[in-house]
Amino acid sequence: MANDTLLIKHTGTGKEVEYPLFESTLGAKTVDIHSLYKDLDCFTHDPGFVATASCKSKITYIDGDKGILLYRGYPIEQLAEKCEFTEVAYLLMHGELPNENQLLKFNLEVSDKAIIHESLRKFFDGFHYDAHPMAMLVGVVGSLSAFYHSELNNKDPAQRFISATRMIGKMPTIAAASYRHSVGRPFVYPRMDLGYCENFMNMMFSRSSQNYIDQDHYIDQDFVKALNLLFILHADHEQNASTSTVRLAGSTGANPYACVAAGIAALWGPAHGGANEAVLNMLAEIGTAENVPKYIAKAKDPNDPFRLMGFGHRVYKNFDPRATIIRKTCYEVLKKTQTDDPLFELALAVEEHALKDEYFIEKKLYPNVDFYSGVIYKALNIPVDMFTVMFAIARTAGWVSHWLEMMEDPNKLISRPRQLYVGPAQRDYIPINTR
Ligand code: CMC
Repeated sequence: MANDTLLIKHTGTGKEVEYPLFESTLGAKTVDIHSLYKDLDCFTHDPGFVATASCKSKITYIDGDKGILLYRGYPIEQLAEKCEFTEVAYLLMHGELPNENQLLKFNLEVSDKAIIHESLRKFFDGFHYDAHPMAMLVGVVGSLSAFYHSELNNKDPAQRFISATRMIGKMPTIAAASYRHSVGRPFVYPRMDLGYCENFMNMMFSRSSQNYIDQDHYIDQDFVKALNLLFILHADHEQNASTSTVRLAGSTGANPYACVAAGIAALWGPAHGGANEAVLNMLAEIGTAENVPKYIAKAKDPNDPFRLMGFGHRVYKNFDPRATIIRKTCYEVLKKTQTDDPLFELALAVEEHALKDEYFIEKKLYPNVDFYSGVIYKALNIPVDMFTVMFAIARTAGWVSHWLEMMEDPNKLISRPRQLYVGPAQRDYIPINTR
């Protein structure tokens, strides 16, 4: 707790109250106003939680002005260069990087949990072939709660960790199964001899006649590296909409699989995780470089709902450090696949125009991580409607880490915001025949 306080004066009553300011390790101090209603008989109004810290957290730090992103204190640039995804997942969950033995054990636990119950696998048969994979993901992950509910004791830390590891393990299996169902291909079982990213690619792309990963275990390591990088960059982002949703659902003591399903639903929207899919759809709509100025003008027009997808961020107002890392990988992957993808050229044209445009400069709108991630996923042959699912696989590490942190908090409360009521004042019922 800092010595600083914030003085709030109610000009109507003249009453003044001093509120303590919490000191953070990094970043802005936070005023503790939880007794405001009791003290001054008023609430705070902060639509979109632009200035509201909903919790205390030790997991991720973002400085949006300086473009800094730290997981448990480690810069994203270092983790992206040196780690495997499961190492980062362990870091997020446990607070420290694993040693070799801890990582080996964690990897074994994750791959051991990758298999899904045969009855759960059959759930996919209930979906129409053209169901969006995100719809299947929400449904099937939520249904995990039916398989792990009665014996789950949320109050037992060991069981909480098992649930969290189980979710990280099963998410790629469920994600790949959603894709296989949508293209009418048989389900591919997870393999314990493969790493997290390799296993996912094998489950996605194996055919009965040809294993994606051959007998010599050959898989293009640049592809694995790119996928690993994307998963690390998307693993956590402090109190974003989907993570806050997981926390909000979890604050009621709900089943953790149901909480993650709620997070997946929140992720789906185009303002959040759905942006990577929306970027590719937008580029397809723009079509060619000549059309770019027309679409930039549309994005600037206050009467046009069109927004440049993959641009802007609630927190990053200078640059998105994830975008800087990923932009480089974009070139490497496209060089490797020798894909002269016109969409990438088009993306660069959009980026160039927007970065020079006064509107985007003034409003501090820069390309975010999802402006580039879709282009890489496309080069890796991941279908466009699977892009947000890819985001969900990665973000599961963050969701479960936040859920664990919240459940460990002895002072946790059910999340229950208040409101500024602007509806009708109390009035009397009018009988239907006189309305
Ligand atoms: N294109 C055109 N104008 C924009 C854009 C955009 N992409 N983003 C923001 N603006 C304008 C907006 O119209 C507003 O203008 P005005 O001040 O005249 O009303 C101003 O910039 C501020 O925008 P805002 O909506 O108040 O900002 P926000 O912090 O609430 O929204 C955002 C952030 C990410 C939802 C928004 O920038 C956006 O919709 N971007 C496109 C979708 C996108 O790429 N989302 C992925 C985010 S990164 C992945 C993740 O972490 O989920």
